[in-house]
Amino acid sequence: MAKCISIETARQQAITEAVAILSRGLPVAVPTETVYGLAADATDPAAITRIYETKGRPRFNPLICHMADLQMAERYAAFDPVSRRLAERFWPGPLTLVLPLKPESGIHPLATAGLDTVGVRVPQGFAGDLIRAFGHPLAAPSANSSGKISPTTARHVFDDLGGRIELVLDGGPCRVGVESTIVRVEPDRLRLLRPGGIAVEALEEASGLPVERPAGAGAAIEAPGMLASHYAPNAAMQLDARRIAPGDALIRFAGTPVEGEEGARLVLDLSPDGDLAEAAAHLFDYMKKADASGAAHIAVTPVPNRGLGEAINDRLKRAAAPRES
Ligand code: TXA
Ligand code: MG
Repeated sequence: MAKCISIETARQQAITEAVAILSRGLPVAVPTETVYGLAADATDPAAITRIYETKGRPRFNPLICHMADLQMAERYAAFDPVSRRLAERFWPGPLTLVLPLKPESGIHPLATAGLDTVGVRVPQGFAGDLIRAFGHPLAAPSANSSGKISPTTARHVFDDLGGRIELVLDGGPCRVGVESTIVRVEPDRLRLLRPGGIAVEALEEASGLPVERPAGAGAAIEAPGMLASHYAPNAAMQLDARRIAPGDALIRFAGTPVEGEEGARLVLDLSPDGDLAEAAAHLFDYMKKADASGAAHIAVTPVPNRGLGEAINDRLKRAAAPRES
């Protein structure tokens, strides 16, 4: 079983033991401000392979490479002026930039799935200090089994992967609670690859460029088959719920009333005050709690599609999408 070390009470020990494990080419579960990551050396093909084995993920996708700071990121990726401006404004923080990979930079093609671009981000807080101590970029997807809901507490990680990894670093609940926003800067616009912890409105304001959203995200799912089922609970998700059946679980937003709620097995409110940042921070934990209640259905009331609501709705739609078999 994995050892757990608190970064609050034993920060130096956490860094020393994590660096030792990373140096052996093994992954470590690390708290970030978004979700817990399963981090390993982005320059070591064996280490990257271990990430996929541990998650039970069958295919190699490009992974986000985490850097200690912008200066370190510039050693691996080529920045255009707008990308640099976004990095200066939002790093450290929940923004991933897809940039041309510098040739011979040392990032292994398994981390980029052989692409000539790399997704880079500088996480806030402890993770950045760990990368600085280790000296190499860390490739880190969310620290969960493939297809499951992303972890926002050390307990989530431990319950899922505790038998398969050596170390879980405990930083408490993640402040943001949804993964980073992923963008690629193009000459006349930003291409949004994944909504996340930085609101699209903030990117538009900082860059002065319009943001093009991916087809299928936002209002309607155009091709459900294309939308890989991710973040999947065992229960069936019912979005935009107005009523629920007895025994179902209810996740609501801002106190939205629902017909039949007195018969609910469990009622959770993402943010009674209607604060989208608070709602994002609670989202994955509440999905797990609703699922653990044993309800056959999880009903969710509408969440406004602005600010962090865009990332919340993206994750809810993925959770509700037909499962890959
Ligand atoms: O908040 C986060 O971003 C979390 C924490 C742990 O930092 N990490 C995370 O990583 O979500 P990951 O590896 O699951 O994100 C991978 C996604 C890919 O599925 C792809 O959408 C995008 O990042 N990506 C990475 N590199 C890319 C590239 N070169 N081109 C296009 N998309 C890329
Ligand atoms: Mg994930």
